[in-house]
Amino acid sequence: MKRIGMLTSGGDCQALNAAMRGVAKTLFNAKEDVEIYGFLNGYQGLIYGKFRLLNYGDFSGILTKGGTFLGSSRTPFKTIQDPDENGLDKVAAMKQNYYKLQLDCLVILGGNGTHKTANLLREQGLNVVTLPKTIDNDLWGTDMTFGFQSAVDIATDAIDCIHTTAASHGRVFIVEVMGHKVGFLTLNAGMAGGADIILIPEIPYDIDKIVEKIQERHDRGSAFTILAVAEGAISKEDAKLSKKEYKKKMEKYKYPSVSYEIAEKIQKKSGLDVRVTVPGHTQRGGSPCPYDRVFASRLGSEAGKLILKGEYGFMVGYKNREIVKVPLEDVAGKLKMVDPKSSIVKEAKMLGISFGD
Ligand code: F6P
Repeated sequence: MKRIGMLTSGGDCQALNAAMRGVAKTLFNAKEDVEIYGFLNGYQGLIYGKFRLLNYGDFSGILTKGGTFLGSSRTPFKTIQDPDENGLDKVAAMKQNYYKLQLDCLVILGGNGTHKTANLLREQGLNVVTLPKTIDNDLWGTDMTFGFQSAVDIATDAIDCIHTTAASHGRVFIVEVMGHKVGFLTLNAGMAGGADIILIPEIPYDIDKIVEKIQERHDRGSAFTILAVAEGAISKEDAKLSKKEYKKKMEKYKYPSVSYEIAEKIQKKSGLDVRVTVPGHTQRGGSPCPYDRVFASRLGSEAGKLILKGEYGFMVGYKNREIVKVPLEDVAGKLKMVDPKSSIVKEAKMLGISFGD
């Protein structure tokens, strides 16, 4: 008999349900008896003992559904070792609930913060297997996270829609793409949507270079320009600031997001009409794309296999087109970012895309 606890933590994304289904189906199809307990709303459920025993039917019909049927929450790693408002030791409470249910293993689906806590639980002696979810694709140790391709589709769709109206009106349009502090989503959606300028956090921009590119397009007869701007895009000047200086600057920041600052600067320097579109959380919503359905199912299935073999302490990832297991201690606390020297960036530049550098 195997007793498994399962939870989804952090910002949701598409294919979380597909991944959980992949784990569950693999376990239920094995010869061994299996019980799966679902903790509600991420680590909150594990801390406060909010869970329910899941059955085969819970995993039926969820392959195509976005979100997570277990619910999710952000439980920051930074404060995970601090007592809660009632003085509860959260880590001790998670361990207690794990032991009370006599679990053999926790299956944890999440991104960067989630993996830090998962690794902490591993260090505390719990058996853990994790799955890499995030639309940002910023998890170290895996070439791909599930949710990413679905988000690329949605952000691309947004850019496609903007393209036609931008062309009709001869406007400059900024589409702001999620991704937190990394640019994978913007880079991919930007290229797929035919953006003329792509701004990502890994390549700080110079506003004059952006205006130059827009002007160059105008001179060639293109009245409109599309910019795909990562929510974490940063100017060359700001990139030089220390963390403290940047934080101080942001305290007085008057724009809703970076795109509005860039729009104002372009407008002032070029006199052109600039509009901003922010697809926001739509990028995390809706059904997973077919790629993510297959990908998350494969990762989930592999996690099930590890559990059946009793191999714990790993994230199931994807490297060089193979599903792999990566030690959790290698993943936790590391961010995967776009390499400005990578071939995709070079190719994009050869296509004439400006990165504002
Ligand atoms: O990590 C996923 C993500 O969607 C990021 O791209 C974004 O910066 C962040 O989460 C938004 O977080 P929240 O849903 O808490 O506003």
